[in-house]
Amino acid sequence: MILVTGATGHLGTLVIEKLLKKVSAEKIIAVGRNTEKLNGFKERGVQVRSMDYDNLESVDAAFLGVEKVVLISSSELGKRFSQHQNVIEVARHKRIKHLVYTSLLKADRAYMGLKGEHVQTEELLLDSKIPYTVLRNSWYLENYESAIQSALAYGVVLGSAGDGRVSAASRADYANAIVEVITSPDKHKNKIYELAGESSFSLADLASRISALSNKPVVYKNLPEEAYQKELLGFGLPPAVASMLADADVGISKGDLFWEGNDLRNLTNQKTLSLDEYITKFLS
Ligand SMILES: NC(=O)c1ccc[n+]([C@@H]2O[C@H](COP(=O)([O-])OP(=O)(O)OC[C@H]3O[C@@H](n4cnc5c(N)ncnc54)[C@H](OP(=O)(O)O)[C@@H]3O)[C@@H](O)[C@H]2O)c1
Repeated sequence: MILVTGATGHLGTLVIEKLLKKVSAEKIIAVGRNTEKLNGFKERGVQVRSMDYDNLESVDAAFLGVEKVVLISSSELGKRFSQHQNVIEVARHKRIKHLVYTSLLKADRAYMGLKGEHVQTEELLLDSKIPYTVLRNSWYLENYESAIQSALAYGVVLGSAGDGRVSAASRADYANAIVEVITSPDKHKNKIYELAGESSFSLADLASRISALSNKPVVYKNLPEEAYQKELLGFGLPPAVASMLADADVGISKGDLFWEGNDLRNLTNQKTLSLDEYITKFLS
């Protein structure tokens, strides 16, 4: 049986949908805190269990009969390592046969602060001796949803990424990779893959493609990190999120999310969604 954490979230939902095309529903266990969000999957025969990363007993209970685990990294910045630690500890204890973890592109050598909890998790996982696959994901194209919205409203994309390039792919592309890896018997075990879109763009390119595809003037305005953080606070983002996003942009300016390898395409055997395709889909 395959357990998927974060199944109530965006990526987890796609993973369960795609798993359902490859394995029978009763072999899938979807877990999250608010299991009401999983009622649709339950009706289709998926096992649904409540699990809070912070509650070790709930993690232990959710693992009953589980052979393989997809650990989708938690969204609670600052608490993630201890949360992942609980999952890895239980997985080790239960002698899980394969654990797939979603990390960050080039986590071991990136600049951005976001890498910290991913590096800690990767190290713990490798030390645990659980057969693993680490999928180091670049950005989601969907991260630019609000940038597109404000570009359409105000004619400007703001950021601190300079001319750094982002090799982004869609959540659906990353979900396809997870499903391929967790359903393959052995060939992806004990490997680390760097997953990224096949083409890359700078934020100036993002502005120019939004402009071309919407027929509205849009420019990119590059700001110093602190000024960008202030703008994000002005949009109502919590301070921790504003500071994380500004720091991530500085990481992008240093090449953190640029990648020319083909691991994602090779794993999924599908072309990754391009920026133009994403914007066009968004606009329609
Ligand atoms: N590569 C990128 O561009 C990128 C961008 C954003 C995020 N990420 C990372 O990728 C992950 C998946 O992305 P996403 O878009 O699917 O995020 P998402 O929609 O925010 O989903 C996050 C998931 O984490 C679960 N979670 C959070 N705290 C939990 C806890 N204490 N116990 C159990 N479950 C908990 C949430 O469950 P609840 O429904 O119970 O809250 C939810 O299912 C994120 O969590 C984050 O680590 C990557």
